[in-house]
Amino acid sequence: KGEYAVTLLPGDGIGPEIMTATVGVLEVVAAKASFKFKFQDALIGGAALDAMDDPFPDTSLQACQSSDSVLLACIGGYKWDKNPREKRPETGLLKMRKTLGLFANLRPAKVLPQLVSASTLKPEVVSGVDIMVVRELTGDVYFGTPKGIRTGSDGEREGFNNMIYKESEIRRIAQVAYGVAEKRGKKLCSVDKANVLDVSQLWREVVTEEGLRHHPDVALEHMYVDNAAMQLIRNPKQFDTIVCGNLFGDILSDEASMLVGSLGMLPSASLGDPRGPGVFEPCHGSAPDIAGEDKANPLAMILSAAMMLRYDLSQPQAAEALEAAVERT
Ligand code: NAD
Ligand code: IPM
Ligand code: MN
Repeated sequence: KGEYAVTLLPGDGIGPEIMTATVGVLEVVAAKASFKFKFQDALIGGAALDAMDDPFPDTSLQACQSSDSVLLACIGGYKWDKNPREKRPETGLLKMRKTLGLFANLRPAKVLPQLVSASTLKPEVVSGVDIMVVRELTGDVYFGTPKGIRTGSDGEREGFNNMIYKESEIRRIAQVAYGVAEKRGKKLCSVDKANVLDVSQLWREVVTEEGLRHHPDVALEHMYVDNAAMQLIRNPKQFDTIVCGNLFGDILSDEASMLVGSLGMLPSASLGDPRGPGVFEPCHGSAPDIAGEDKANPLAMILSAAMMLRYDLSQPQAAEALEAAVERT
């Protein structure tokens, strides 16, 4: 294909800064390769709330659906933090993931030799770390119902959410994770809280079954999330591929960024139906504390663009060239 339609969602905070840097890099990639990009801007998050009173308007959804791929920077900020739930930037991001069916979020944490000393951990602990977190992205306590804040029968207010997974949702993310592990070190660690949570008990059963049936060549290990959080710091090199639910994956991937040295280095790919576009987004947020100061690290966004070239646009050579350029820089 000669031309790729890519929707850009710059969002809020440092979003526009890192998006501008990334588009500049992609123009260079295209100039050196045999394809072109056709970029189209769309609104999400606080920027969309300010302009259209909707954190992910239908016009943005349509722009995404009509594209080959979507690049998203980040959303959120103090200005909207007190809004009701449906008028929050985060709600727009979740709606985008859900409506585009992006159930698999790949978050690689690879330590570059040049940045070993950037981590807060000892060099011998982090050097050589290469972990892929496969985070389920459209289920779990993020989307479960019922949810809300209510006044209980005793007159006291209570907040509640529902941590819930259907078997089919567990099975499809397990399939993605085994597929990823197969192409890497053939080692999969499934993270849950099966000693306490029923939803995790089902998670563990289904992940185990899927492995026995279809992926006997991948070594499967189960780990409770509290231990996993500890092991990631104690000895991160024991991990190759990690699979977990939405909430645990959110937390563990930010933790993994500290092995790499900076949250500003962690890219991600959000994938679903291969016929639809994937969304490529850094793991970090809008960093409102440094927005507008030209201090933000754009590499997580640029590396997310490399993941777009690899996973959505089938341009592995361009992806590798871009990653090599990041390593040299
Ligand atoms: P954050 O990731 O925005 O920032 C955490 C810390 O990391 C801050 O000190 C920030 O300055 C720093 N940081 C993050 N990205 C950086 C980069 N590229 N370069 C340099 N430093 C960077 O998390 P937060 O402060 O908890 O949340 C801020 C807002 O972002 C909130 O509104 C939150 O809901 C939102 N958020 C959005 C996303 C997303 O768009 N995917 C992800 C996480 C948080
Ligand atoms: C992320 C973010 C989002 C999440 C928020 C902003 C909804 O933290 O992309 O990691 O929790 O998924
Ligand atoms: Mn997060």
